[in-house]
Amino acid sequence: MSLRDIQEEDLELMLSWRNHPSVRSSMFSQSTIELQQHQAWFSREAKKDDSAWLFFVDENDIPAGVVYFTDMDRTANHAFWGFYAAPDAPPGTGTKMGVEALDYFFQALGFHKLNAEVLERNQRSQRFHQKLGFQTEGVFRDHYMGGSGYESVTRFGLLNGEWSAHRHKLLLG
Ligand SMILES: CC(C)(COP(=O)(O)OP(=O)(O)OC[C@H]1O[C@@H](n2cnc3c(N)ncnc32)[C@H](O)[C@@H]1OP(=O)(O)O)[C@@H](O)C(=O)NCCC(=O)NCCS
Repeated sequence: MSLRDIQEEDLELMLSWRNHPSVRSSMFSQSTIELQQHQAWFSREAKKDDSAWLFFVDENDIPAGVVYFTDMDRTANHAFWGFYAAPDAPPGTGTKMGVEALDYFFQALGFHKLNAEVLERNQRSQRFHQKLGFQTEGVFRDHYMGGSGYESVTRFGLLNGEWSAHRHKLLLG
């Protein structure tokens, strides 16, 4: 299991996951994306030094998800993250990807804090963040306007020291 940089040739597979209804409906931008639009966006994104887009590769060397860090701020030493598992990935994939990503972010990159924003309807992601040890830091009421009207957004945060303590509990079960 590992994380690796996303290459040009990964973009079609990445887009097929991103456009899948189960992923698209969890995102802040929910419209279907065209391949050309995705390629142009990625070439801009790849040039930025405050974001990182990674493929999660499972124990059989099969790409099984995407994880990304954005707004990486080296002064405050924090960033935001997002992720999606391949829609056909087996249960448990998200947790494995989360552990790899948090180890990379806190241990390899040495950041102090990771932030996340999750839509109210996305209970799966809310529970996922709690499982990984994130604390709820606040709720932005009616903060997002989607297809089904206004939705609140929960802000989560996880500190470097909290992850060190929590990962032991998580991995011990
Ligand atoms: C969030 C996501 C990565 C989780 O991946 P996954 O492979 O289902 O994760 P796991 O099977 O390891 O489950 C991890 C935890 O997520 C939560 N979870 C998973 N499926 C759930 C479901 N159907 N309902 C409620 N909680 C669920 C649980 O807390 C679960 O832990 P548990 O099994 O110990 O109870 C995946 O559902 C996904 O890609 N969702 C769409 C994209 C998305 O929401 N991205 C985040 C935007 S903020």
